[in-house]
Amino acid sequence: MRKLLVCLALLAAAPQTAVNLAGTWRFEQTNPSGKRITICVFEPRGSTFTGTFATLDDRGHIVRGQIHGNQITFDVQFDFDMSGKLTQYQGEMSGDDLKLTRANPPANRPSTEILLHKISSDTTYVPPPELGPVHKPFPPFKRIAPNGLALAPPMGWNSWNKFAGRVDDKTIRAVADAMVSSGMRDAGYIYVNIDDTWEGSRDKDGNIHSNEKFPDMKALADYVHSKGLKLGIYSSPGPTTCAGFAGSYGHEEQDARTWAQWGVDYLKYDWCSASAVYQRDEMKPAYQKMALALRATGRPIVFSLCQYGLLHVEEWGPTVGGNLWRTTDDISDSRTRMSEIGFGQEGNEKYAGPGHWNDPDMLEIGNGGMTHDEYVTHMSLWALLAAPLLAGNDIATMSDDTKSILTNKEVIAIDQDKKGVQAHRISQQGQLEIWARPLADGSQAVGLFNRRESPSPITLDLKSIGMTHAAKIRDLWKHRDEASAGASFTAQVPAHGVVLLKVK
Ligand code: GLA
Repeated sequence: MRKLLVCLALLAAAPQTAVNLAGTWRFEQTNPSGKRITICVFEPRGSTFTGTFATLDDRGHIVRGQIHGNQITFDVQFDFDMSGKLTQYQGEMSGDDLKLTRANPPANRPSTEILLHKISSDTTYVPPPELGPVHKPFPPFKRIAPNGLALAPPMGWNSWNKFAGRVDDKTIRAVADAMVSSGMRDAGYIYVNIDDTWEGSRDKDGNIHSNEKFPDMKALADYVHSKGLKLGIYSSPGPTTCAGFAGSYGHEEQDARTWAQWGVDYLKYDWCSASAVYQRDEMKPAYQKMALALRATGRPIVFSLCQYGLLHVEEWGPTVGGNLWRTTDDISDSRTRMSEIGFGQEGNEKYAGPGHWNDPDMLEIGNGGMTHDEYVTHMSLWALLAAPLLAGNDIATMSDDTKSILTNKEVIAIDQDKKGVQAHRISQQGQLEIWARPLADGSQAVGLFNRRESPSPITLDLKSIGMTHAAKIRDLWKHRDEASAGASFTAQVPAHGVVLLKVK
């Protein structure tokens, strides 16, 4: 009897909720932007727990889970969140229901409730079938040889910055027409790239089709090619793209063949939901898988990696077959964001060269959020950085000012210089910065950047670019040779502006 009483007392004291928490919990909701699924697997040990937190886009492991009666709190470390920051959740259990919210949601993204229901007491995470079949493990990683493309940074246009989800066949044809009539093509802008939201569904054999906005991709490619231009497309190594459309996960070879049949010449491959299906050490082979698939088609297709600079992509981008790789998260049409990205490229110069380029994201020139001098800074900095020049504005309606910035042949020549050396910062005095890159003809391209709110003189000391005197100093925006005076050169630089020079 005594024993029984002790047992009953122990049972009453045991954390009942811990017992209930153990298992797999699921939330599902369909809204206009698609299906939302959250799966939580909790493994309690007394009043603490660990586990998995997964969505259709992302996956992380639970650290520091705590149970207080029917309340729980926990932190999630998402596998690809390189900031090392934990995401905090709090929840309230009631039987087999668990109401979850972000504990400290960012001000601009208020937390929505996740209403989980316990579906089993299984404590092993099983990915939802919506993510597709679990992929086979990759063979040991081996670098692949370059594909011989993009010997100069790719130039062209991309639909995302201006059109986002509104891009369609008509837009692409109008842009292709305007690339020719505006002189963009003749200035070197060759690729017309369709970004996210072209994707339709897969047929019974798994072949991807474009959606109703793009009735006939092959005909569109033919049209673009007839203008002396090339066509680019977009996909993801994950099951869905960043805008929630079908990605290439599990269909890599098939998609590469489809695109090659259409006549595609360029692929931007955007990580997005791949975080939900791959581990960190699978990012390289996941990218390489598509590189190999593209090569197997026999069609030359430029391969652009887009994964926001994760896992030091600049160090391995070429080994997976990438011709370019994004070094940052998305640009926006603001001076602050453009400057943060552009002036933040210092150190990346050692990774760029013919066939493999750092990509600080597409141009915003002409989209309206910056002044003339700020867009001139954008163009000059990207040219110095040997960045891909992908215009992101509406070419068909651009102003003469926008056109003159984008088509400045002397500036484009810097970007496309055969030596392929990316500029770096050679001096900085507060908000006055000088960036320079050596060119194939022995001269140097030099940008005198004034990031202040008012005009300022900036002096270039020729010693800092390895010269004692200059035979020729040319201003690439004024298109004029400057009188060179001795061992230094001083220019008046507008606020938020630049003077871009070629010094010989
Ligand atoms: C990500 C990329 C962008 C764009 C969008 C499309 O945010 O970084 O450049 O491709 O996805 O959804």
